[in-house]
Amino acid sequence: MILSGKRILLGVCGGIAAYKAPALLRLLTKKNAIVRVVLTEGAEAFIGPLTFEALSQEKVFCQRDFLSPPPGLIPHTHLGRFAQAIVVAPATASFLATLSCGNAQSLLVASIMASKARVLICPAMNVSMWEHPAVRENVAKLLSWGYEVLCPGEGELACGELGPGRLPEEETIISHLERLLAPQDFSAKKVLITAGPTREPLDAVRFISNRSSGKMGLELAKAAWKRGAEVTLIHGPLAISPPPFLKTLPVETTSEMAEAVLSRLAEIDVLIMAAAVADYRPVRVYPGKMKKNSPSLTISLERTTDILSEVTKHKSPGQIIVGFAAEEKDCLRQEALRKLREKGLDLIIANDITRPETGFEVETNEVYLFFADGRETHIPLASKEEVAWKILDAVKELF
Ligand code: CTP
Repeated sequence: MILSGKRILLGVCGGIAAYKAPALLRLLTKKNAIVRVVLTEGAEAFIGPLTFEALSQEKVFCQRDFLSPPPGLIPHTHLGRFAQAIVVAPATASFLATLSCGNAQSLLVASIMASKARVLICPAMNVSMWEHPAVRENVAKLLSWGYEVLCPGEGELACGELGPGRLPEEETIISHLERLLAPQDFSAKKVLITAGPTREPLDAVRFISNRSSGKMGLELAKAAWKRGAEVTLIHGPLAISPPPFLKTLPVETTSEMAEAVLSRLAEIDVLIMAAAVADYRPVRVYPGKMKKNSPSLTISLERTTDILSEVTKHKSPGQIIVGFAAEEKDCLRQEALRKLREKGLDLIIANDITRPETGFEVETNEVYLFFADGRETHIPLASKEEVAWKILDAVKELF
C-alpha cells in the first residue's frame, strides 16, 4: 500500500545473507514498488545480477558500471535522484565502515551520498564482528546522521555461531521501510490495541473461546506503528505471531486482559479494543482434567468484566476510546449504536459476521463506523491492512 509506486533503491553487499536479497526484491515488487538494484563487488561474488534483473525487470547496477558508465549516464547521481528510499540488505561491516567515513569509491556508497532519500541499513554478519567496537562506532555515527539501522536478528548464524547477526525477515525489513515512507501523523501518540480472543479455562486442558484470529487488531497495531505511534499490543492467543518490532503483552483470560488494559489506561492517548473478549467464564475451574464419568454435564458460567465499560468510567479528557462490534446484518446499526452509547465510546467499528468475506479468520473486512457525535461512515470491502489504515484515518479525526 505505502510502497505502491514508490521508487526504492536496493543495495546488496557481499555477505552470505545476500542470497536472501532476491526474496526481499520479490516482496518489494509484489507491493508494486519500482525497484533498482545496486550490487557491490562482494555481492556479485555471492549472487549474479541476472537474478535481480529478472525479478526487477530493470537494469541492475554493478561496480563496473561506476568505473565505465553507460554513455550519457552518471550512475551514482542517477540512482541517488531516482530513490525515494534506499534499503541496504544485507549491509556488511565493510559497507558500514566505508559509508561512515564517506569513502565514495563504491557505487552503492556514492549513490547514498548523492541522494536525499531516507536510508534503511540492515546489517548481517558474524556475531563477534557485530559486537566489535569498530562496527559499534560506525553504527552510532550512521544513526547520528539520521540513517535508520535495523538491528540484526538473533539465532544460529551461517558461520555456526549463535547470537545477533542474522538478516531480519523480509516482512520486518519491508515494515521498517514502510515506516520511513509513511506519514508520521500518529507520532508522539501512545496507542494501546487489543487483539485476538480471550480464553476461559474449564479445567487443566479445556477452555471456552471464540474464532477470532486477531488479524484485524494486528493490522491496526502495525499501521499505527508505521504512522509513528508508540504502540502496545495486548493480545490473546493469536493465529499468527506478531512482528518483532511491536511491543506486545500476551494474556489469556478476560480478567488478565482487563488488568493489562486498565493498568495502562492513565498513560495512553488512544485505546482500540479489537479483541473478541469472552463474556462468560466457568464459575469453577476444575483442578486437573475432568473425566467423562457422567452422561451429561452442565457448566455454570458467570459474566466477565466488560473492559470497555470499566475503561470509560476511568478515562481522562482527551483520551480516545474505540470499540468493535461483531454483528449480524439485520441488527448491525442498531446494536453498534447501543454499544457505542452504553459503553461510552468515541467510535465503534461494526462488521457483519454472517458474510464469509467479513467474518472471522479471513484476510478481508468491510466495516461501518459510528461516531459519538452522530456521524456514520463506511469502509468498503478491502484487505484488513487497507481497512486498518482507513480506521486510523477516522481515529485521527478525533485528535
Ligand atoms: N468488550 C469488552 N469487554 C467484554 C466484552 C467485549 O471490552 N467483556 C469489547 C470488545 O473488545 C469490543 C466491544 O466491547 O470492542 C464490543 O464487543 P462485542 O463482543 O461485540 O459486544 P459485547 O459487549 O460482548 O455484547 P454482545 O456479546 O451482547 O454482542
